[in-house]
Amino acid sequence: MAPSFANKEAILIIVCNNEGKSGIPVTAEMLSRGASALDALEAGVRVVEDDPEVRTVGTGGWPNLLGDVELDASVMCGSTLRTGAIGALKGYTHPVSIARQLLERLPHEFLVGDGAARFAHEIGAETGELLRPHAKTAWQRWFDSEIKPEHQAAWPDAPLIEYCHNAVDPEIGKDTTVFLCMDQHRHIASATSTSGWGWKYPGRLGDSPVIGAGSYADSRYGACACTGAGEMTIRTGTARAVVLYMKMGMSVERAVDEAVNDMRALKGGLISRVTIHAIDNRGNHRTVAVNGLPDNHYWLWLPSMKAPEARPAEIIQISDEEPQNKPFAMAVYTKEP
Ligand code: GLY
Repeated sequence: MAPSFANKEAILIIVCNNEGKSGIPVTAEMLSRGASALDALEAGVRVVEDDPEVRTVGTGGWPNLLGDVELDASVMCGSTLRTGAIGALKGYTHPVSIARQLLERLPHEFLVGDGAARFAHEIGAETGELLRPHAKTAWQRWFDSEIKPEHQAAWPDAPLIEYCHNAVDPEIGKDTTVFLCMDQHRHIASATSTSGWGWKYPGRLGDSPVIGAGSYADSRYGACACTGAGEMTIRTGTARAVVLYMKMGMSVERAVDEAVNDMRALKGGLISRVTIHAIDNRGNHRTVAVNGLPDNHYWLWLPSMKAPEARPAEIIQISDEEPQNKPFAMAVYTKEP
């Protein structure tokens, strides 16, 4: 892939998280050829949704406690402040495109569950089996070893609360995908897509479809999107906060620092890992992994680059303790032989 953007004066930029690796070349190619920010982001996220190596987004994503894969996604146009978000959607392989169509075709901003599925059906969105053999096997192993016999017998009409607290995400440190970019017209956009936590409570929405928490874009200032424990960024309104801090005059570096400081006020609930990705409207960016792991990285593409480059995320600890919450504390997934 060798983007050949003619207008070297334009400030193009793409930032995506580590899971965006397979999609960012497509986004870069499209952006370099003059595509709109939303079109380029949607195309890149669709690749990630199909990527069999990414087990936290789209087809092949981890299921919830009941063994069903529920997907969340969103898009935001920073020039109109229109958004499209869908949550807890089953059976559709490209939630980011359904979110995009919601933005284009409905007077609403957010659909979940049965309503999202109805809309997806009405627009002829692609359907497919989301639960792949590796995930089904891992879920079955968990079910057989963790669920009490009396609850197995009653399944799925069994209490789930205790199992939700004890569930361990099968693949710690892997995540949602988030993309941010600015196109040749300086339109800024954001997009997200995820299967959320493995073994989540049915109907659980993370931050990915919650505009203002998991993503926000405003072409006048910049954009932000988060990965990791959505329970944290929902509480701090992180993505909107970063953009608002830039509106208040802070640099993208300061704005992200301020959003990290907001997280220091979180008490109780889930305190775990979050990575904050942000760009401003001048082509600057910053990515910070809060309580991050040493191998946390993100992908950056600028017109001066032949191909997108992986960069280490800056790690900021907001707690001296290892995140205590099991779903993000340990990795137990091993590939099937
Ligand atoms: N950040 C993705 C989620 O919490 O589901």
